[in-house]
Amino acid sequence: MDPTAEIESGLSAFGEDFRAQFAAASSEQDLRAARAELLGKKGRLTQLLKLMGKVPADKRRELGEAVNATKQEVEQSFEARLKELGAAARKADLEATPFDLSMPGRSPAPRGHLHPLTQVRDEILDTFRDLGFSVAWGPQVELESNNFTKLAFPPDHPATDMQDSFWVKVEGAPADARVLLRTHTSNVQVREMSRHEPPMAVVSGGAVFRRDDDVTHSPMFHQIEGFLVDENVSFAHLKGVLTAFAQRMYGEHVSVRFRPSYFPFVEPGAELDVECVFCTETTKGDCRVCKGTRWLEVLGCGMVHPAVLEHCNIDSERFTGFAFGLGVERVAMLRYGIPDIRVLFENDPRFLAQF
Ligand code: PHE
Repeated sequence: MDPTAEIESGLSAFGEDFRAQFAAASSEQDLRAARAELLGKKGRLTQLLKLMGKVPADKRRELGEAVNATKQEVEQSFEARLKELGAAARKADLEATPFDLSMPGRSPAPRGHLHPLTQVRDEILDTFRDLGFSVAWGPQVELESNNFTKLAFPPDHPATDMQDSFWVKVEGAPADARVLLRTHTSNVQVREMSRHEPPMAVVSGGAVFRRDDDVTHSPMFHQIEGFLVDENVSFAHLKGVLTAFAQRMYGEHVSVRFRPSYFPFVEPGAELDVECVFCTETTKGDCRVCKGTRWLEVLGCGMVHPAVLEHCNIDSERFTGFAFGLGVERVAMLRYGIPDIRVLFENDPRFLAQF
């Protein structure tokens, strides 16, 4: 075919097609794709232009103008359709069901925090740290000697019974090296006193285990242990330190009392009571927490028994000391008014989120 005629018929077909293609494009993306097919490097118009070289010189100018005119038409029609599509999209946006700006937002996931028992434990340890005690840790699986014997428990003491403690079988252990889950944190007394020379002031905290299970007793619970050994330590020092502790925990004006009590590893032994912080004018005599006694039992304490010092190779003629132990769960339950110890271990987020 004659190149001039070929270009002319190509242009006229082209002129009809592009309008149809632009009109059919229903999105900006489609429209741009159609335009590229027509005007792009491999587009139909570009192919036609390649024939231009074969057109006789006297026809070229006329034909060139026709090509340019078509090109302009395509561009104009493209712009017009682009506007149309934009307007249609905006109209659809405006007419769509509006966003409900009153809907609640999506809140970020709540931040975690330490378990309430860990918070109480750390607070108690910090209080003693402020009073000059250092912090030590002891194992939960312990030798009978560190848990009982060196603490001067007689061999037939009820705590050493199968019914009261969790004994652990250790393969290949000698028969006289019996092992159990520690029943209290007092094992740390034995370990630290055997390892260091007085003077020393140590606090420790951790899990302990007893065969007990009801609303106020769990087979696993936590204790804080503290002790101080030096020359000339007397019961007055014990009273001073524990009174300072009670005042920091329960308020500067709280009253305390020491009641005689018995633990094999102290002599004399005592229990520290703190004035009930739940009694009010109206509940006095009828308080459910202290059962009308107006006092809350807070911890066991006493002067370290000379036999314990000797078992740890400390000269009991030269050194004396005091020791105390308290339950972390009890402090937490009293503070937050938690009636059942078990909720502390169920890890229900609805409970934990309250702290
Ligand atoms: N270990 C004792 C208990 O578990 C508490 C205690 C510790 C008492 C230190 C006196 C001295 O009940």
